Amino acid sequence: MALYFDLKTIEELIGHNYYRQQKEFTLQELAQFDGSNGKPAYVAIEGIVYDVSKVAEWAGGKHFGNTAGQDLTSEFKACHVMTKVDKLPKVGILKE
Ligand code: HEM
Repeated sequence: MALYFDLKTIEELIGHNYYRQQKEFTLQELAQFDGSNGKPAYVAIEGIVYDVSKVAEWAGGKHFGNTAGQDLTSEFKACHVMTKVDKLPKVGILKE
């Protein structure tokens, strides 16, 4: 039996960001994803919402005094360069 997938389907299966539905988060919605009690941990940097749930350094949604579920642009910039987030899954964008 042969299975045929088009490129878009393959990209969706492997989770390529380009084809993933861009979710829009308000700050209030983002606050739900603080990594507590097994919830996902999302952090917004420069308008993009990243998933840090699988990052060991962000266990429980906490990282060097920072808590997930917020816009941490200035905190991030004070500690890291932008390339740090390149490999993180993007889950959406922050609504103005
Ligand atoms: C008080 C500010 C912060 C300090 C002092 C800090 C410090 C660190 C240190 C020491 C590490 C481990 C070494 C390294 O990979 O560089 C780390 C890793 C990491 N930090 Fe931060 N960080 C801060 C804020 C943030 C924020 C706001 C984010 C937002 C996403 C972030 C994302 C990450 C990620 C994704 C990693 C790890 C993994 C990797 O690159 O493999 N950090 N941080």
